Amino acid sequence: MQYDDNLTTDRPTFVTHLECSMTGEHYPADQIHNLSRAGKPLLVRYDLGGVKKALSKDALARREPDLWRYRELLPVRKVEDIVSLGEAMTPLVSMPKLAKKLGGAELLVKDEGRLPTGSFKARGLVMAVSMAKALGIRHMAMPTNGNAGAALAAYASHCGIKTTIFCPEDTPEVNVSEIGLQGAAVYRVNGLIDDCGKLVAEGKAVTGWFDTSTLKEPYRIEGKKTMGLELAEQLGWEVPDIIFYPTGGGTGLIGMWKAFAELEAIGFIGKKRPRMVAVQASGCAPMVRAYDEGVEHARRWEDAHTIAAGIRVPQAVGDFLILRAVRESNGFAIAVDDSAISAGLDEVAREEGFLMCPEGAATYAAYKQSLADGRVKKSDQAVLFNCATGLKYPLPPITKTLDRHKPIDFAAL
Ligand SMILES: Cc1ncc(COP(=O)(O)O)c(C=O)c1O
Repeated sequence: MQYDDNLTTDRPTFVTHLECSMTGEHYPADQIHNLSRAGKPLLVRYDLGGVKKALSKDALARREPDLWRYRELLPVRKVEDIVSLGEAMTPLVSMPKLAKKLGGAELLVKDEGRLPTGSFKARGLVMAVSMAKALGIRHMAMPTNGNAGAALAAYASHCGIKTTIFCPEDTPEVNVSEIGLQGAAVYRVNGLIDDCGKLVAEGKAVTGWFDTSTLKEPYRIEGKKTMGLELAEQLGWEVPDIIFYPTGGGTGLIGMWKAFAELEAIGFIGKKRPRMVAVQASGCAPMVRAYDEGVEHARRWEDAHTIAAGIRVPQAVGDFLILRAVRESNGFAIAVDDSAISAGLDEVAREEGFLMCPEGAATYAAYKQSLADGRVKKSDQAVLFNCATGLKYPLPPITKTLDRHKPIDFAAL
């Protein structure tokens, strides 16, 4: 029995070439690439006219609910190159009590914690590793704040590719452990993620490993793009009014923006776009500063610190793409304090029974702040991204105990 046709059925593929996101210069498909000659991310381009003819909404609706249902808009050409750990479609969870309390309209959380390795990094890395397999890459290296490294280790081990992973020394313990357990060589480095990135670049000449850093390989965006494809499909081929995205390297924000353009080109959605909001922490907010200054590129953020480790990215190679999507969509960039992130995490857990990761909680804090200052309209349908399961992070201890051998005052419990 075929348990998932998406993984076993050959489907037509439509990649035509890759393109420099800055200069538009073309690069051939089906070859190993990192950045363009201009040092900028490469974007995968498709024959969208061909996709339009080959794919209908009805055909899609009949497919299994996983990321591979969008094969015509993905770069992997052959089923044997698909490396899967079960990339289920993630639910949109409604937060009615909080929406009512804050006076907003519908508030939805896209819960990415349901994916393999417990975070949305699985979307990007399943694509990067599948393409690495297709292109014959044997060794991948990556700087990570935790979740991306965990996803890389998992998928690469699944298909026998070797991995070497560098994390900032204070990366959450759970992430470093899962990376190691899932078969990677993992090192803590006394620096931030961009310092780790330099080690990956330096080691390349000696080891020949492939640099899998955010946006330095072209396929992670294609995987993250599926968040936008899925979201539009789940909303009946509509887009929400506003999306709050926790922004580090920004792959997901850039990917979703690309997804909406491709969906319009194949006639699945109209012209409407959600306002894209890049959420950062006040202790590391290079995109917010660049947005406020009205510039195209962001300066490195010095002394970066926040409890939301995933968005502690002092400098992003795709800065101009993030800022472009935010501005073109009439969105904005916003910073929230660690105290608001913690308070948000507690509030969503207590009131809605939904345990967010700190980065997800940052989007809730940003939504709340924006609703209060009028940047979000009370009538806006909003989608927050909870990008990892809250269970991965240290939780507060519960100290209350009962002695079952003594009388218990149940009325006082
Ligand atoms: C939980 C979590 N949220 C958000 C991000 C930032 O994602 P992006 O690089 O797509 O901006 C990361 C990246 O490490 C993460 O692990």
